[in-house]
Amino acid sequence: MPRKLAAGNWKMNGLRASLEELKTLEKRHDDASVDILICPPATLISACKDMLFDIGGQDCHSATSGAHTGDISADMLADAGASHVLTGHSERRTDHGEDDATIAAKSLAAYAADLTAVICIGETLEERENGSTLAVIDTQLAGSVPDAATAQNTVIAYEPVWAIGTGKVPTLDQIGEVHAHIRQRLTDRFSDGGAMRILYGGSVKGSNAADIFAVPDVDGALVGGASLKADDFSPIIAALEKA
Ligand code: PGA
Repeated sequence: MPRKLAAGNWKMNGLRASLEELKTLEKRHDDASVDILICPPATLISACKDMLFDIGGQDCHSATSGAHTGDISADMLADAGASHVLTGHSERRTDHGEDDATIAAKSLAAYAADLTAVICIGETLEERENGSTLAVIDTQLAGSVPDAATAQNTVIAYEPVWAIGTGKVPTLDQIGEVHAHIRQRLTDRFSDGGAMRILYGGSVKGSNAADIFAVPDVDGALVGGASLKADDFSPIIAALEKA
């Protein structure tokens, strides 16, 4: 069984002063029985590189280098000290028009740089309400997860778009249905798909984490807002350790 994973996505939040939160978290979880990944803004990656946690970027370009002003390559993230990178977060899909092919290309760039890609998928509220959630998941899995994905180089994060930053969380049955579906698709397609970690993301908090982690095939969480403060992220890590 792969270790469970508590991942924090700081999004466009965090200055050097915020590193104090990570130092507090480090003291509290220096012998954690789960993996802990922090994805700070790229400006803080090198300052985090000696921490006990795994450190990740939030996005990378699909090319290794070149004329792409403002972008960051997977090699650059690795060089700064990252071991992971998020690809296909819904905010990238929405704000930057990233489609599944772009996300697959970014994930391949991550593999080439020896980074683990945390590939994010999830339906919008409209898709949930018109009953196409599982079809959307199938399309995103097929299009954004490369054939070269393995349980080592890939983590899947299921994040319903309507649950991100809204305080709304799917029912446990809804989470269970989608995670079981993703697991089936992964085992159908990859020889080690049973060991590929599937995270749930979207309004995870200390108060709902234990219930979510008890759902089969939930191997951890991708946490936005509640990962910014040690006092908020710590109970989520503790709940995952007990799951
Ligand atoms: P949230 O964000 O925990 O603030 O809902 C999750 C994410 O976007 O990864």
